[in-house]
Amino acid sequence: MDAAGLMTGALNEEIKRLTGLGLHRRCVEEDLPRVAALTLEINRLKRERNAVICAHVYQTPEIILGVGDLTGDSYKLADDCRRTAADSIIFCGVHFMAETAKILNPSKKVYVPSANAGCSLSEAITAADVRKLKAEHPGLPVVTYINTSAEVKAESDCIVTSANAEKILRRMYEAHDKVIFIPDRFMGANLARALGKTPGRDIILWTGTCIVHEKFDPELIKVYRRRYPGLVALAHAECPTELINAVDYMGGTGDMMRYVENTDAAAYLLVTECGFGELARLKFPKKNFIAMCRLCPYMKSITLASVLALLKDPAPKEVTVPAAVAARAKTAIEKMFELAA
Ligand code: 13P
Ligand code: SF4
Repeated sequence: MDAAGLMTGALNEEIKRLTGLGLHRRCVEEDLPRVAALTLEINRLKRERNAVICAHVYQTPEIILGVGDLTGDSYKLADDCRRTAADSIIFCGVHFMAETAKILNPSKKVYVPSANAGCSLSEAITAADVRKLKAEHPGLPVVTYINTSAEVKAESDCIVTSANAEKILRRMYEAHDKVIFIPDRFMGANLARALGKTPGRDIILWTGTCIVHEKFDPELIKVYRRRYPGLVALAHAECPTELINAVDYMGGTGDMMRYVENTDAAAYLLVTECGFGELARLKFPKKNFIAMCRLCPYMKSITLASVLALLKDPAPKEVTVPAAVAARAKTAIEKMFELAA
């Protein structure tokens, strides 16, 4: 067989593989052969460069299932990348996730395919803000959501993710009457209430919000419930409290996926970023999902084309963290692993 014949054969095999993953059911704008040509080349270059691709659940299913090696929520990705034998980590997620991977794996090269993969929460607070908060509230532990910069983590006592924030806050309250929780004011208030605490009195909050989760309308939940009897509504803990009060379950993306897997509802309303619902539909094709989602522009700035471009020219997309900042941030991240275990 000549080179062209071999290429066609490999492409057909890749189309078959992606079809087996259910991706043919969602290729509307991008036809499957085009996706397959990209995933084939990305996976080839990835092996050649001994790189591993981490893909957060808010990425497109083509990225998660087509080229992702380590996939899941921000806790799982941070934890899993500590054990990879690859020389480099390509993070299909947002910048703070890649920074966390770099802090935990200083000898590896870490890359993000897009320069626009920020996060409104991460941008809401600086290290100087944290120092000021600590000066205003001496002695209180600083519990910091992972959606923050390395510099902010370096000023913190313990990092949390949506997967362990409630558990870790509960542990913190065993030793303290009051804690500082930054930067997500909605998540902090939701968790405090879940623990029987009063926002303002028992928890000092910052002003940060997620631009995706802050805008869901609680009134719509009632409309969906009337339309779909037996509907179970799940919302990410970054949503405002009025929205959380209107749903049946609050959690992080990992908790929400496990909830869907382990229950058998007539329909699920997933109040979070759209990628999560797309993935849930592919993972559980027999379950019924109702669309109520918003796109995260930061997460969606990553595409298969940008992953391929990175593999061809990685240097401009490398993520670095100054050693002194990384050392202090690592202590706070390791505290999370210890308390979440
Ligand atoms: P998870 O840790 O739940 O995946 O959340 C990350 C995130 O950015 C949610 O908006
Ligand atoms: Fe940040 Fe919100 Fe996007 Fe998550 S969904 S990365 S919290 S802006």
